[in-house]
Amino acid sequence: MYRRIARWVEQHWQCPVRSMATVARRRKGLPSAFPVLDLPLKPIHRHIYEANIRNSTACKNKYMELREKVKKGSGENAIARHTQRNKKLLVKDRLQLLLDDEDFLELSPFAGLGLPYGDIPSAGCLTGIGRINGLWCVFLANDATVKGGTAYPITVKKQLRAQEVAIQNRLPCVYLVDSGGAFLPLQSEIFPDKNQGGRTFYNEAIMSAMKIPQVSVVCGSCTAGGAYIPTMAEETVMVHRIGTIFLGGPPLVKAASGEEVTPEDLGGARLHAEVSGCVDHFVWGEKEAYEYTRNIISTLNYQLPEEESNEEKAKKGEEEPLYGSEELLGLAPLNYNHSLDVKMVVSRLTDGSRFQEFKARYGTTLVTGFAKIHGHQVGIVASNGELSYEASLKGSHFVQLCDQRDIPLVFLQNTVPRPGLTLSPAQAEINTNCLKARGAMMSTVACASVPKITVVIGGCHGADSYAMCGRAFEPNFLFLWPNARVSLVAPGHGGSLLPPGREAEELKEEQEMNSKLKEESSAFFSSGRLWDDGVILPQDTRKVIRDCLDIIQQQQYQLSTEKLRSPLLRV
Ligand code: COA
Repeated sequence: MYRRIARWVEQHWQCPVRSMATVARRRKGLPSAFPVLDLPLKPIHRHIYEANIRNSTACKNKYMELREKVKKGSGENAIARHTQRNKKLLVKDRLQLLLDDEDFLELSPFAGLGLPYGDIPSAGCLTGIGRINGLWCVFLANDATVKGGTAYPITVKKQLRAQEVAIQNRLPCVYLVDSGGAFLPLQSEIFPDKNQGGRTFYNEAIMSAMKIPQVSVVCGSCTAGGAYIPTMAEETVMVHRIGTIFLGGPPLVKAASGEEVTPEDLGGARLHAEVSGCVDHFVWGEKEAYEYTRNIISTLNYQLPEEESNEEKAKKGEEEPLYGSEELLGLAPLNYNHSLDVKMVVSRLTDGSRFQEFKARYGTTLVTGFAKIHGHQVGIVASNGELSYEASLKGSHFVQLCDQRDIPLVFLQNTVPRPGLTLSPAQAEINTNCLKARGAMMSTVACASVPKITVVIGGCHGADSYAMCGRAFEPNFLFLWPNARVSLVAPGHGGSLLPPGREAEELKEEQEMNSKLKEESSAFFSSGRLWDDGVILPQDTRKVIRDCLDIIQQQQYQLSTEKLRSPLLRV
C-alpha cells in the first residue's frame, strides 16, 4: 500500500520537480570545435602594448586608491559611533554572516565619489549579488556610518539600479535596512520624481507580484520612507534593541505632543513582532538575524543543479584561454590610436581561445561570432574600428541571429572618435547610409530579448555607444575597464561640437572643451555617477562575465514563476 502511494507521489507530485532538475543536469550544448584564435603578441605590437601597460598600471593604481577610500567609509569617528555606541555590525561583517562566501559581485562600488555635493562612500549603500545557500541574491545594505545611512540622490539611484538588476534577472532580493530616511538638505532631488525615492516602494510591489522574493532585515533605524521597505517586503526579520521602525522618531513625538517615549516603545522589534505585525521574525541579536535570513532563503522554491566538479567541466570542454588574462592590460587601449585587433582581446576571454567567427570578411571593423565563456555559449559583438555602414548591417544580422537562437550577447565596446562632419554632397550620402544602418542596429539591439552584457574596453562615445548596447539600451550588466573613456565626443575632438570656420582666438573655446571632455570622460567619473555597474580590472573580465551568465541563468531553476495579479500584502 505504502509503496503504491510512494509511487503515485513520485509520478504525480515529485515528477515535475525531478524532471526539471534532471533536464537542467542533462542539458548540455552540442559538441563544438570552434577554431582557435592563436594570436600571440607580435614584435610590431610591442610599443603599443607597452604604452597600454603603462596607462593600465596608472589606472589600476587609481582603482586601488579608490577601493581603499571606499573601504574606509566615513572615517574612524563614524565607525566608532556605529560599532561602539550603537553596537551594530559594519556592513562588511553583516555581509560575511549573510552570504556563503566573500566571492560576490559588488555593483558600482565607486558610485558617490566626486559628486557636486561631495564624496559619498559607496553612495551610502552597498549593493551586489552574492550567494545565500547556493542561491544568487541581490543585496542592498545601507551603510549607517555614512550620515546615518540617509539616502542621497545617488543612494536612491544605486538602490533602484539594484532592484532593476533583480527584476531583469529575476533574482531574490535581501534588504539590510539601517537608514535615517532621506538626506534632508537634498530632499528636492530625492522626493517627488518618477525615478526617485518612491520608486523603491513601487518596485517592491511590482517585484512581489512578479514572484521575485524579497526579504528584509531591520538592523538599524528605518525612519520615514525607510519604514516602508521592511513593511512591504514579503518576510522581515527585526533585531531587538537595534532595529526601529517608525515614521517619526521620539524627538518628533515630543515636539508634537510633548510625550516622552523611548525608540523601543515607539517602534522596536517587540512592538512590531507582537503588536503591529509589521515584522515576522523577532531576533535577539544580529548574528541570529542573518541565520534566520539564510533559512528564509532556503524556503524559496528553487531547484538548483548539482555543482559540477572540475573533471565534469573539463569533460564539457571548458578550457582556459591560450594566453594569460594579465595580457589584457596591454590590450586595454590608452586611446583609439593604441587599439590592437580586438580578436586579441576575444582570444584572451573565451574558452580555449576558440571563436566561430561570423561574416569574417564583411564589415571587418566589427567582429562578431560565437564562443564559450566558462561553458556558457555567447555571441560576441566587438568593436574593431569605425561602426561603418557594412559593420552596422553585420551587427544587426548577428544580433538577430543570437536573438533567434536564444544566445546571450557580450558586447566589447571601443568607439572610434568621430571627426567633424564633412558637409559635401558625396559625404552626405555616405553619412546618411551610415545613419540608416546604425539606426537599424540600434533597433535590433534594443529589441533583442536575449540577455546582454556590455564591457567598455576603450572609448564609449556618441551613437556608437547605443548600437553597442550602452546603458540606455538596458544591458543586464555593464562594466568598464579603468582605461575606458565615456563622453559624447572623444577628448581631443571637442572641435566637432563647435561651429566650423572659427577665428584663432575662438580656438581657446575648443581647448577648454577638450580639457573638460578629458576630465569628465574618465571611467571613475562615470562610475561615480552610476552610469555603469562598476569598474572592473581587465584581468577579471572572464570571471565577471562568467558570474553574470551564471546569475542570469539561475531564473530557470525557480519552480513557481507564474505572475500574480497583486503583490503579497501584509494585512
Ligand atoms: N538628513 C541629513 N543628515 C542626517 C539625517 C537626515 N535625515 N539624519 C542624520 N543625519 C546626519 C547627522 O546630522 C549626523 O551628521 P554628522 O556626522 O555630520 O554629525 C549623521 O547623520 C549621523 O547622525 P547621528 O544622529 O549622530 O547618528 P545616530 O547613529 O545616533 O542616529 C539616525 C542616526 C539616523 C537614527 C538619527 O540621526 C535620526 O533619527 N535622524 C533623523 C531621521 C529622520 O527624521 N529622517 C526623516 C527623513 S524624511
